[in-house]
Amino acid sequence: ELALLAKTAGMEPVAHLTCKRKAPDAALFVGSGKADEIRMLAQMHGAKEVLFDQSLSPAQQRNLERHLEMPVNDRTLLILEIFAQRARSHEGKLQVELARLQYLSTRLVRRWSHLERQTGGAGVRGGPGEKQIELDRRMIDDAIKRTKERLVKVKRQRSTQRRQRERTAVFNVSLVGYTNAGKSTLFNALTHAGVYAADQLFATLDTTSRKLWIEGAGNIVISDTVGFIRDLPHSLVDAFHATLEAATDADVLLHVVDSASHARDEQIAEVNKGLAEIDAEQVRQVVVWNKIDLTEASPGVERDEYGNIARVRVSARSGEGLDLLRESLAEYARAKAEARQKALVEAAREAQNDYIN
Ligand code: GTP
Repeated sequence: ELALLAKTAGMEPVAHLTCKRKAPDAALFVGSGKADEIRMLAQMHGAKEVLFDQSLSPAQQRNLERHLEMPVNDRTLLILEIFAQRARSHEGKLQVELARLQYLSTRLVRRWSHLERQTGGAGVRGGPGEKQIELDRRMIDDAIKRTKERLVKVKRQRSTQRRQRERTAVFNVSLVGYTNAGKSTLFNALTHAGVYAADQLFATLDTTSRKLWIEGAGNIVISDTVGFIRDLPHSLVDAFHATLEAATDADVLLHVVDSASHARDEQIAEVNKGLAEIDAEQVRQVVVWNKIDLTEASPGVERDEYGNIARVRVSARSGEGLDLLRESLAEYARAKAEARQKALVEAAREAQNDYIN
């Protein structure tokens, strides 16, 4: 997975190494023998950078860079970089910028430690290094404050737009899932195969949303959201609330699962954990058991004990089972329309009663 992340960020993985330890070393994260091994491996492959799959403390990162004599980065930074490349909307960009600044503010010391060492003799506090750190920190704090203020403004605009959308009775579906589960492939397969009304892109959302016409259900709105990933840095969980809010607003979540992955159960659990964090665990969920072309499974629909659709087995790539998925969505869209109709009749009846009384 780290290799996949690195590739996504535009790097080319050349070697990997795993290591078992009871607890991370406070100074180097790994033992010094392991660190030597990493250095040799990096030299052998002409690597330009070393990536760690876990979060490194600023001190560990600094010590490792000295020991390995090359840039060392961790999973958090990698994910930050990918998100920075992918953010499209103004709000998304601001939020990634905020997360980046917050990450940077804990790592400032590193840049100036050489200056600190040059000055700071006995009894002398500070020196140019420390002054510079203070200046930089103040600049970063200011930037954090400004970014937060801009975000508040953008958020206000977005909630107005959301209210406008809510007033329409459109059925909303959001695709969620672990990164690489096939959400975008499914999104394209569904929208291209089923588009009837003109494609409509809500450019104000970071998630891509399209109108889709489904036989028996009419127009629905379907949104592709950002992929979940293990150990998502907390600052980014906050940052991507907005992107994932489409999921909280949805009538149905299509939880796309890479059924061919050996880690699929952990990935399902990770996505559900993430959904709970954004208060979307109450939204009705249909599991899309994707990539069946790579397994023995055949297309099909599975229902739970109450008769609700729980799982649809499909292949977004080959298109098998997509008709079943469309029918499932139509079933839920009809149920929503009926419930809405009932609520309207109920409200009208109550109003009439009030009038008579
Ligand atoms: P993120 O953008 O990282 O969240 O990924 P995603 O969930 O949008 O996955 P994406 O659609 O980009 O698909 C990931 C990979 O899986 C691509 O290489 C797809 O071609 C492949 N893929 C998607 N669906 C299927 C499928 O049904 N069968 C097979 N064999 N491959 C698939």
